[in-house]
Amino acid sequence: MLKRIEARQVRTGMFIEMVEGIWHDPLLSRRRFLLRHESDTLKLNECADAGVVINTTKGLDVRNTSRKIEIDVKAARETIQRSVEVLEDVFGRLQGGDGITVDQVEPVISSVSKSMDDHPAVFISVTRLKSKDEVTFLHSLSVSALMILFSRHLGLDEEVVQTLGTAGLLHDVGKLEIPLEVLNKEGRLNEDEIQLIRDHPEKGHAILSRQEGMSEIVLDVCLNHHERIDGKGYPRKLSHGEISLHARLAAICDVYDAVTSVRPYKAPWSAKEALSWMLANEGHFDRRLVKKFALCLSIASVS
Ligand SMILES: [Fe+2]
Repeated sequence: MLKRIEARQVRTGMFIEMVEGIWHDPLLSRRRFLLRHESDTLKLNECADAGVVINTTKGLDVRNTSRKIEIDVKAARETIQRSVEVLEDVFGRLQGGDGITVDQVEPVISSVSKSMDDHPAVFISVTRLKSKDEVTFLHSLSVSALMILFSRHLGLDEEVVQTLGTAGLLHDVGKLEIPLEVLNKEGRLNEDEIQLIRDHPEKGHAILSRQEGMSEIVLDVCLNHHERIDGKGYPRKLSHGEISLHARLAAICDVYDAVTSVRPYKAPWSAKEALSWMLANEGHFDRRLVKKFALCLSIASVS
């Protein structure tokens, strides 16, 4: 019998008729095969909401536990939908030159924070699927969620954890000033366009500095989340000792979400591929922190 399920429900031993969508990945673009290897199963699971057609007469069916997963996914989707609406309003106000207060993002932080306690893996995987017009909001939401999860794992004070969640939400606010055709450009960027992108931390910092009661942590993360520990980052080329723990932590969550996200034009990296690349990428990240991040994701069953 043919059955359509979500990619996250796929398990080893299922017979896959097809993975819906257009994929460049050799595994995902294959048709009619028995899923034999755990690594292939994990890769399919990473595709979050992609539909997969299985044949239950030739392989295993879904487990009964899928009902619980479906409920978690539904709850995560509802939280994300509500959060995106708040973010649209907050970002719109900032873009229009109106002021915001931290209280306006508080409901988002408390529901993301609760989701990180209840079902972190589900929440983070649902935010991975990003269409072009949602990308800024869902990236912000996902970075916020990862920062809450990771800073809690590191044992930081709960008040700091919540502030880092806010920092995750607002870290890319400077991108509001970059034209969408540059932000979404798929080909090579010219020098002017690269400069526009590189200006976003300072522009974001300037916007947030004008908001009443904005925490120093939020300002620091916004300005410094693209700094690298070898001093080759931007905008200020700070080196290891000059970059705060909060900004180093944000850099990891930011890049991790970017490379593991499903976009219409690219297949995502698996969590394992992303973490291996981050560890091998000498000089970019704080390696000790990346190792702790990998452990944190594995405890939360995200990787
Ligand atoms: Fe950024």
